[in-house]
Amino acid sequence: MAKKTTWFLLVSLLFLSVAANTHIKVTDNPADELVAVLNQNRTAHKTSSLYDNQGLACIALQYIKAFQGNCDAVGGTDAKKPKDSAFAETFAPNCGVQVSALSPITGRLLGCQSKYVDASKAFSEILMENEKSLEILYNKNHTEVGAAVSGSDGGSPYFWCVLFSNGKSNSSFVLEGGVAKITKPGCFSGANDVCSSANDWSRSRLIWPVVSTALVAVGYAFGL
Ligand SMILES: *[C@@H]1O[C@H](CO)[C@@H](O)[C@H](O)[C@H]1NC(C)=O
Ligand SMILES: *[C@@H]1O[C@H](CO)[C@@H](O)[C@H](O)[C@H]1NC(C)=O
Ligand SMILES: *[C@@H]1O[C@H](CO)[C@@H](O)[C@H](O)[C@H]1NC(C)=O
Repeated sequence: MAKKTTWFLLVSLLFLSVAANTHIKVTDNPADELVAVLNQNRTAHKTSSLYDNQGLACIALQYIKAFQGNCDAVGGTDAKKPKDSAFAETFAPNCGVQVSALSPITGRLLGCQSKYVDASKAFSEILMENEKSLEILYNKNHTEVGAAVSGSDGGSPYFWCVLFSNGKSNSSFVLEGGVAKITKPGCFSGANDVCSSANDWSRSRLIWPVVSTALVAVGYAFGL
């Protein structure tokens, strides 16, 4: 079986922040589970638990959608990343996040894999594969986090995205009407909603067993 694993991570580090938040919500949603795993790991490492911001998480899902299912664009020689202007021009409006409430992104983790795994495996086997990702995870400047996961056309490949920010929880990524617009397919954290896409994906994997035999994992690394 061919196994190709290439890891890159994207990080941008900006302003200092002091807020700590211990707000944790877990529902039957792989993105919420990923945030719970991530926060448990930070706490065990004596780093603050991060506020799960649904506006930021919805933006993480739009970030995934910008790759249009193209795993090759996540890492390797064809690596691309969405333009920074996309946050204000498309990601925020798609989610109903007020553009004036966008806060600096202090770290990004992105991974893509042909096989669907659960949140704790996605964390340890996809997103935490190298030193750089640990550096991003334990960065004390983060105050909040948003996670998203989505398959492409309801199937493989599966993208996982975590965005970190140093914004204040009650005044950053603020949503018009208080709720993020749900944009299917895909799941995002912090909205306290059950997202069953993972189950649909498990079923769809059975339709293409050949596709799921090859484990391909890619990520993108970029130091600002
Ligand atoms: C945290 O932010 C400060 C101020 O912008 C910066 O100097 C520092 O390098 C950041 N720390 C980390 C670990 O990124
Ligand atoms: C936190 O995650 C890292 C990367 O997966 C792992 O090496 C470490 O053992 C984890 N720590 C705890 C306490 O689970
Ligand atoms: C946000 O939270 C801070 C600290 O809890 C508080 O001082 C501030 O008044 C809050 N702002 C709003 C707009 O709720």
